[in-house]
Amino acid sequence: MNVQFTVNGRTASIDVPPNTLLVQALREHLHLTGTHVGCDTSQCGACTVLVDGKAIKSCTMLAVQAQGAEVKTIEGMAAADGTMHPMQAAFKQCHGLQCGFCTPGMVMSAVDLCQQNPQASDGEIRELLEGNICRCTGYQNIVAAVKKGREGMTAA
Ligand code: FES
Ligand code: FES
Repeated sequence: MNVQFTVNGRTASIDVPPNTLLVQALREHLHLTGTHVGCDTSQCGACTVLVDGKAIKSCTMLAVQAQGAEVKTIEGMAAADGTMHPMQAAFKQCHGLQCGFCTPGMVMSAVDLCQQNPQASDGEIRELLEGNICRCTGYQNIVAAVKKGREGMTAA
C-alpha cells in the first residue's frame, strides 16, 4: 500500500505491506533509526514519536494509520542549524541519560507532556512518563531534565 505523510517537515511517500508498523516504516523504509524498538509488548516507550503533535508509541500504530499525518521523530527536533531543542539540551545538561537507548522516546514524551501539562509536579511528571522505561538512570535526572526543558520551551 502507498502511504503518504509528513516526517520532520518533509513529505514521505512509501510503499509498505498493510501490516507494517509505523516504527518499521520510520526505521526500515525512511532510515530514521533514532526511533528505537526496546520491546515487543508496547511497554518501553523507546519508539515514541509525535503524530499530529501527540506522543504515540509508533509500535502500536500501523503505518497506514499515519496517512496524511504530521509525524515528528527525534531527528526533527533540532533546529536547521543544529541547535538542540530545549528538551534535548536539558537532557544533556541535567545528565538525563546514560546509555541513551530510551532517550529519543523520553524526549518526545517529555515535549508532549510539557505541552499538555505545563504545570505538572515532579510526581505528575513521573506518572506521565510511566509509559517510557529507562533501565539506567533511576529517573531523578530525567525529571530534572523535563523541568529544565519545560523552562526552555516556555522561554523559546
Ligand atoms: Fe514500542 Fe517498546 S518498542 S513500546
Ligand atoms: Fe539507558 Fe535510559 S539511559 S535506558
